[in-house]
Amino acid sequence: MAIKILTEHINTPNIDTFEVYRSKGGYSAVEKALKTMTPDAVVEEVKKSGLRGRGGAGFPTGMKWSFIAKPEGVPRYLVCNADESEPGTFKDRYYMQKNPHGLIEGMIVSSFALGANAAYIYVRGELMYVVRIIEKAINEAYAKGFLGKNILGTGYNLDLYVHCGGGAYICGEETALLESLEGKRGNPRMKPPFPAVKGLWGCPTVVNNVETISATSWIVNNGGDAYAKIGIGKSTGTKLISAGGSLNKPGVYEIELGLSVEEFTMSDEYCGGIWKNRKLKACVPGGSSVPVLPANLLFKTLNGDTRLMSYESLSDGGFASGSMLGSGGFIAYDEESCMVNNLWNFSRFYHHESCGQCSPCREGTGWMEKVLHRIEHGHGHAHDIDLLVDIAKKIEGNTICPLGDAAAWPVASHIRHFRHEFEWHINNPTEATKKGAVYREGVGV
Ligand SMILES: Cc1cc2nc3c(=O)[nH]c(=O)nc-3n(C[C@H](O)[C@H](O)[C@H](O)COP(=O)(O)O)c2cc1C
Repeated sequence: MAIKILTEHINTPNIDTFEVYRSKGGYSAVEKALKTMTPDAVVEEVKKSGLRGRGGAGFPTGMKWSFIAKPEGVPRYLVCNADESEPGTFKDRYYMQKNPHGLIEGMIVSSFALGANAAYIYVRGELMYVVRIIEKAINEAYAKGFLGKNILGTGYNLDLYVHCGGGAYICGEETALLESLEGKRGNPRMKPPFPAVKGLWGCPTVVNNVETISATSWIVNNGGDAYAKIGIGKSTGTKLISAGGSLNKPGVYEIELGLSVEEFTMSDEYCGGIWKNRKLKACVPGGSSVPVLPANLLFKTLNGDTRLMSYESLSDGGFASGSMLGSGGFIAYDEESCMVNNLWNFSRFYHHESCGQCSPCREGTGWMEKVLHRIEHGHGHAHDIDLLVDIAKKIEGNTICPLGDAAAWPVASHIRHFRHEFEWHINNPTEATKKGAVYREGVGV
């Protein structure tokens, strides 16, 4: 049986209530950390665990925590990034809805480690039902003495606030999130200074994903070494994957990192194979921002190695033949999926969500959307494909925040692996614009 760290009790009836969560051993990490450990000892365990940020970039969490500045008399903050607006990613909302106390416990342990006495959960604004669930759980935790002044008589104080997000994908970028939390428009900040030095209200701040923070309770309870033994190589622990698209069993799965992509996609324990017995055509394994992989590079790398659900294996081959684990938004496409239509759809999203601060992203995302619109609707030109590649190259690396890269990578990778589909659309406009028309030749495994 695969190990479950975050979802062990997720289907227990009423696990969202304090009593049931507590009856399953909940809040024991708070007791252990606050009563028997120093903040530095908690940071040390998280470092040992090898836990990496689950929001997308995979930065080592313990290292990030150790960067937090500690100027005398200046408050520090922990901010939980629960904005979750990346297409294909829906794990955080599932987790928070089912197990809000799991996140709250992680927030207390992590805030204690960072020396923060105030912490925020920034929830995507559209998810009001999640906000209500968390607020109810926070009230219970206050009532039971796990939040507020002098928690469990240890002298440690923590206030926890929920903030409704600004309703934009960019508000998930950590510095835009901080701007939004301060009541301003969610525009990313220039870095440095990094939030660990100058974050919320100009004070040292750590921003972590819901899943990252929630995993810290298990690490405190069981030790960093035990966590590091789960997973593979530098991809330690488990990961929540939101699986969607052409799968028999879409949903949120907790996997041990290192599981083969084939087993995840095809076995009945997880996604149960491709729906309607169709062939698999492609997959975006880590949310809409990461490069798409054609089916022949999904289960095996270019070298013929088994492709694993891990940071290293999914990026094996670099951008030429690899992708990224990202936020774990696993989107499968079958032989009936049109990759031109898919890319046009993604591009519309990035154009709409660009904050407009940087001209390469503001202008480039609009151009990419327009060019893709005309290819998809039968008005493409032969030079449009190279034009798209050129625009993507000019955005990548030239913006304040990585939204520009996130918009450019899908374009570059769709064209790299599915150029023939774009050419077919341009050369056969009448055929390609018929309802349900899809390029099928030699497609899928
Ligand atoms: C446009 C954009 C949107 C993002 N959205 C999210 C998000 O919704 N949730 C999240 O945890 N990280 C998101 N990130 C990544 C955050 O900037 C940051 O790296 C992350 O919250 C750090 O937490 P972690 O170290 O636990 O992964 C986004 C980044 C970008 C560029």
